[in-house]
Amino acid sequence: MRYVVLTTIAFIVSAAIVLTACKHQPYVLPVSMRTGDSSICFERDILPIFISNCAKSGCHDGSGESDYVLNSYDNIVRRGIVPGNPEASKIYTSMTGSGEDLMPRDSPPLSAAQLGLIKEWIYSGAVNGTNCSSTCDTTNFTYSGAIKPMFDNYCAGCHNSSSAASTGGGYILDTYDGVKTVALNGKLIGGLTGSGYTMMPQGGAPLSDCQLTQVKKWVAAGALNN
Ligand code: HEC
Repeated sequence: MRYVVLTTIAFIVSAAIVLTACKHQPYVLPVSMRTGDSSICFERDILPIFISNCAKSGCHDGSGESDYVLNSYDNIVRRGIVPGNPEASKIYTSMTGSGEDLMPRDSPPLSAAQLGLIKEWIYSGAVNGTNCSSTCDTTNFTYSGAIKPMFDNYCAGCHNSSSAASTGGGYILDTYDGVKTVALNGKLIGGLTGSGYTMMPQGGAPLSDCQLTQVKKWVAAGALNN
């Protein structure tokens, strides 16, 4: 009995290998199977990473030379994403490769956590999750627990130490010292609420009320490195 099972498994595996090897078109997940990963919601988890790291001025916001505009679901998925198949998705592989084509150009690579999220999102069908439930908690407003993870996803692509001069007005928000400076001189809340400042995150949706409350509470408590 066990022999029969093993032979059957071996046959299925080799058939799969032969079939994959013959394929010329990348495997695309059928629409009916694009059910998504329930823990990942496009607007909440994926879009901010693209806005901050790719849709920067002169890069993929439509103003640069590239015809890849990566600022909305339709634009991101239209080209370079193959639902179900991260390895065939040019946008994903461009961020995981090496050499001068590694994206984002002239900026730090995405973190393993960010790449993992994008990979899982593509793998489970690259669905357009909107009206995402909030995972935000206004009682959590430490730098390490709330502010840094938020700014890493929403701001650091433009405001990182290596490219901020050209992509973030010179404001560095991927270090505690950089964030503390704008927190204490009023520019941080100003930028996030827009009054008298350029509205941040530039090119993206405003932060949610809960996220804004976290930032305000952290600033009011002295912008500590906690
Ligand atoms: C797509 C790129 C981009 C993203 C994303 C982005 N910024 Fe900016 N930010 C800029 C640029 C460019 C400037 C300079 C704008 C100016 O001088 O008008 C700027 C300026 C600022 C300023 C100074 C405000 C002023 O008017 O002087 C603050 C504070 C700021 N950003 C905070 C943030 C925060 C916090 C986030 C994330 C929640 C964020 N930014 C996301 C590009 C970006």
